[in-house]
Amino acid sequence: MKLIAELGAISVVSTETIVLGIFKGVQRPGGAAGGVDKKLGGALSDLLSDGDFQGKKGETFLLRTDGKILAKRVLLVGLGDPEKFSTDVAREVSAIAAKTCAKFSEMATIVHGSGIGGLETKSAAQALAEGILLGTYKFSKYRSNFKANDEKGKLEKIRVVEFDSKKLSALRIGLETGEKIARATCTARDLANEPGLTLTPKELAKRAEAMAKSFELECKILDEKTIEKEGMGGILSVARGSEEPPRFIVLEHNASAKKQGTVVLVGKGITFDSGGYSLKPRDGMGDMKFDMSGAAAVFGAMQAAADLNLPVHVVGLISASENLVSGRAIKPGDVITMLGGKTVEITNTDAEGRLVLGDALVYAQRYKPKAVIDLATLTGACVIALGKEASGLFCNDKELTQRLQQASEATGERVWPLPLYDEYRDILKSEVADMMNSNLRVAQAGACVGASFLKEFVNYPWAHLDIAGPAYNVDSRKYHQKGATGFGVRLLVKFLTEWAEKS
Ligand code: BES
Ligand code: MN
Ligand code: ZN
Repeated sequence: MKLIAELGAISVVSTETIVLGIFKGVQRPGGAAGGVDKKLGGALSDLLSDGDFQGKKGETFLLRTDGKILAKRVLLVGLGDPEKFSTDVAREVSAIAAKTCAKFSEMATIVHGSGIGGLETKSAAQALAEGILLGTYKFSKYRSNFKANDEKGKLEKIRVVEFDSKKLSALRIGLETGEKIARATCTARDLANEPGLTLTPKELAKRAEAMAKSFELECKILDEKTIEKEGMGGILSVARGSEEPPRFIVLEHNASAKKQGTVVLVGKGITFDSGGYSLKPRDGMGDMKFDMSGAAAVFGAMQAAADLNLPVHVVGLISASENLVSGRAIKPGDVITMLGGKTVEITNTDAEGRLVLGDALVYAQRYKPKAVIDLATLTGACVIALGKEASGLFCNDKELTQRLQQASEATGERVWPLPLYDEYRDILKSEVADMMNSNLRVAQAGACVGASFLKEFVNYPWAHLDIAGPAYNVDSRKYHQKGATGFGVRLLVKFLTEWAEKS
């Protein structure tokens, strides 16, 4: 799919369908839509005054133009209440427009929300590109007759038309930025949607190497032997139950740009989580192929950081392993030694994410980071608390919290602060080791206890995002399909972009 910026009036564009965004409550459209309305003899005003189209968010109306203008059709898409308009609404309606136009080979659109919506051209254009590309994404590689199906859609070319020549360069930059970020998000989705059978830790490492090559990142892969030599007992223990060996992936961007301080991103990369001997119930276990969504987000964010050439030193660390059962797997009651020497009594083999992450967080110390952000589908408890709407945000640093909250506002990838009280850590006191990996009896504050376990391994400004809820969907919603959302990529890229600009 190609997005092309063009100077001109949309009312004179020759194409299959032109898309016009209309706010709720508008009776006589102005601007670009007004121009089209005039040429159509007031057809749009009529639709609005008759109430056929009200401009409710996401509402659509497709009309033929009968040769009155060069475009064959006009698609009206509702932008909703102007007071509630945001870049996230822009993404949502752009996705709807592109999906509605899937059966046409070309569409032309204006940027939504840069007029009454009050958005800057650049961010409105970025949102448009993101909405279109994220909204039309499909994971179809395993569907043999998908290409022959109508379902694939034909839409190949999207012309973004701007009347004001002064806005054209901002429009171009916005589209290009949005495109790069959306592609990185789709990379993350592709990884997370890939079944555990094919996306093993080894395969994830291979893909990281290939991505690093094409985007010019440094990439180092630690294999099983090296992981053992390093003393990364968390990753090794979780991997014991699988025939597939673990991998620890190190991606590095812009090592020379240390002015603002190094940021380390850490991702949980459990390519399949059966629970191990503390086996999960069978219903929904298939969703545990998504248990590497944190790793996927880090992967995608690193790709985007390189693609956008962000002037900041970023390191991406991914702990990749399967969590299965076998004659060699860890068992409840086992004691393991993590990187750095802390010992952990395994009380539940299903609390494996914190084991692979603990090692990665200790590994991160060697970069003397100014900020470390880990992303993990860590607990079902976080899904109970926040649902699909937000990730849990646990943070030991006020400024880092604020920076993430700002990035969250701007991207619509919600984070919600949750506490790291010492009492949560006390719940994990063990009689036989330095700590347990999971609550013994009472199932309470699961997300907070998991986060407090991780806190034991950090000595720097740190944030933990429990993305178990928003990482994947069971139905399509907004500009996401069923399956992986790529949650975290856009948030991290926005965070890094702002970080690069800080003094
Ligand atoms: N990967 C799961 C968490 C999860 C659950 C992610 C549902 C997405 C949807 C994680 O490894 C896990 O099993 N956590 C346990 C922790 C418990 C044993 C302390 C959980 O949430 O039950
Ligand atoms: Mn688990
Ligand atoms: Zn897990």
